[in-house]
Order: sequence, then structure tokens, then C-alpha cells
Amino acid sequence: MGGDCVANLYENTAFLYDRDPRIPFSMDIPFYVKQAEKAKGPVLELACGTGRVLLPLAQQGFQVWGIDLSEAMLTELERKKNGLPVDVQQRIHVSRQSMCDFSIRQQFSLIFAAFRSFQALSTEDEALSCLKTCYRHLHVGGRLLINVFRLSKPMGDWWQSKEEKLDFETMLPGGEIMTRHSFNKSFDPILRLLEVDLIYRIQHKEKPVKEHRDKLRLRYYEGDDLRTLLRDAGFTIEAEYGGYAGQPIDQGNELLFICHK
Ligand SMILES: C[S@@+](CC[C@H](N)C(=O)[O-])C[C@H]1O[C@@H](n2cnc3c(N)ncnc32)[C@H](O)[C@@H]1O
Repeated sequence: MGGDCVANLYENTAFLYDRDPRIPFSMDIPFYVKQAEKAKGPVLELACGTGRVLLPLAQQGFQVWGIDLSEAMLTELERKKNGLPVDVQQRIHVSRQSMCDFSIRQQFSLIFAAFRSFQALSTEDEALSCLKTCYRHLHVGGRLLINVFRLSKPMGDWWQSKEEKLDFETMLPGGEIMTRHSFNKSFDPILRLLEVDLIYRIQHKEKPVKEHRDKLRLRYYEGDDLRTLLRDAGFTIEAEYGGYAGQPIDQGNELLFICHK
């Protein structure tokens, strides 16, 4: 499987998304649980995907809302949700909407976009529209958390791949061996866009390898880009970290901004 697909929606690979065994893939969950505890009110996750973060928050007792544009990712979320106790399911409210311009009849104490989802908004207008929509959906004093990746050095030719890079290898419950490779295809320094191919391959015994591909088109942030956007949307930046353990902003792999209305 592969071929044409819309970038950033994991249409062909949503069913494999949660199989990433790498530690950074789960280390943000305790961070968001702590932020939800502080919020003392309803929580919204933008681009909640398969519910990797949203479902643990509901399991911890929080009332959670989630939006995502991908039918495939939301199908995975629904499947996982159906396996949870009824009282947990009742705390989960999910709809298919774009984070660019969503509408929910609810004011929130906390809105967050985990694991670089915000970078799926490929233009500055879309990103600003998303932030302004969040602002309208927050209680006064409510918080917004945005996480994007930090580039280790200014964007340049170094970023482009010459060949596929192995991200991880893992065993699926049926005993199949799955690998995921990524290929950094191109970057546009004017539009600040990166194009990446994700390639999952599944091998079961002597059977032919099955391949599933998706595309990412991500906007990257450098310098004061994101600070300026957050302020333009009306937010006050309260804290900035380089990782979920509170590392200084210029030292981790992440850029984490905590803002309030
Ligand atoms: C890297 S995944 C992150 C999913 C989840 N937040 C997590 O941390 O595991 C990015 C998600 O963004 C969603 N997405 C992409 N563009 C979107 C948009 N414009 N509005 C809402 N969701 C979007 C994708 O469908 C996908 O589920």
C-alpha cells in the first residue's frame, strides 16, 4: 500500500502509529497529566490522533475533548476507547474538525497540541487562525501548550536525506517484524516547510514484505517565529522549555511554550 495520500493525516499508517516503542514517544504523557491537574477544568487536545495522550488523561479522571482531521486516526482512537470502562468513555468527547478553525460549545481551562501536531499547519495564516480559535475557546486565565521540535542547527542542506533512515524496529503482537524508516525529502526555506516520507515495512516469516507509506509536510519554527505568533493571537507566554522535564529552551529536542489568555 502507499501511493497518493494527503500529507499529515496518516491515512495509510494510522493502524501502526501507536507501535512506536521509542521512549520519547511516551515521555510527554506525565507532563500533560501534570498540566491537566493544574488546570482544574475541561481539557482540549488539538490533533489528538489515536488518543495516545487523550485516553490516559481520561483514565486519570479528566474530562477531555479531542479534535483531529484524520478519519483513520480517529478510527483507531474509537477502537481503543471502546475497550475502556464506561465511566472513562463518558469523559471522552471527540470530533472530526481541523485545528485551524474548530468550533466546540465549551470553554476550556487547558488546550494543548502534543508531539509537533501544530506543525501540520503549513502556513502562517493557518497557524495564527488556530491560535486565535484556541484563544476564543479558553477561559480567562486558561492555558495553551504548544510543542514543536527544535532544530539542532539552522535549517540547511544537512537536513536532506541521501537514503532512508531506520527510526525503529519492533515486533507486532502477531509476531511480525515491523520497521519504520523515514526519508527527509525536501525543505523550503522561504515557506519553512519540510517534506518527509514515512515507510513502514512488515515482515511475517517467509511471506513477502508489506509496505505502508505516508507523507508529512511540516512547518518548522526558528528564532522568535512561534513567540511572535503566540503574542499576535493575544497570548502571554508564561514559560518555555526544551523538553518535558523542564530543560532550558535552548537545550532539548523540543520547543514547549506554556501561555495563558
Ligand atoms: C504526529 S500526530 C500526533 C497525534 C497525537 N497528538 C499524539 O501526540 O500522538 C499528528 C496528528 O495531527 C493530525 N492533523 C493533521 N492536520 C490536522 C489539522 N489541520 N487539524 C486537526 N488535526 C490534524 C493528524 O491527523 C495526526 O493525528
